Amino acid sequence: MELFLDTANIEHIRYGVRLGVVTGVTTNPSIISREGKVDYQKLVKEICSIVPGPVSTEVLSLDAQGMVTEAREIAKWAENIVVKIPASLEGLQATAVLAKENIKVNFTLCFSLNQALLGAAAGAAFVSPFVGRLDDIGEDGMEVVADIVEYLDYYQLPTQVIAASIRHPQHCLTAAEIGAHIATVPYNVLLQMIQHPLTDIGIKRFVDDWNKVMGA
Ligand code: E4P
Repeated sequence: MELFLDTANIEHIRYGVRLGVVTGVTTNPSIISREGKVDYQKLVKEICSIVPGPVSTEVLSLDAQGMVTEAREIAKWAENIVVKIPASLEGLQATAVLAKENIKVNFTLCFSLNQALLGAAAGAAFVSPFVGRLDDIGEDGMEVVADIVEYLDYYQLPTQVIAASIRHPQHCLTAAEIGAHIATVPYNVLLQMIQHPLTDIGIKRFVDDWNKVMGA
């Protein structure tokens, strides 16, 4: 499973890429707004230059024509850009048009297998089920991810599943177990994934034992 960072913070992205584990980035209007009043296009282009793989950024139009117009512009920003289109009826229409133009679409705000199925049928390169937000309303977000993975696999469809709205390391673990192609994780979750108390205890014990005999 690949790991994407779910952020627009340049320092965090640089660090994740330097660690050698982050291959892509996902943003959305809320994520971009967390960086303050920025030059949107400049910021996304910078992210695209840092990250080796796909960088998703979202349209703001609500109607299909507006989404298509916006997406065509965004698609010119970088080679590795992916346009996020919401899993609405208008979004589905836009996805079908964009996919025919070979513009990569991340079918986002996906909360059901039916939405993912339609996005994949329309030619989306990625579908993004939002796990945490489903969990928030008492549903099982990972079950939806598992259903989508199974469906795409069964019909051998090329669309990739991005487990999104990840809230904690356990989400990443489950996403990997059920075969999600990608998990897009907040920076704090990425850092939490490497943590284990036994590793810290083990490092300390090795150093202490060494120093007891070898001196330091
Ligand atoms: C995914 O592409 C979205 O940007 C993101 O995962 C949304 O997560 P949230 O539910 O924490 O806002």
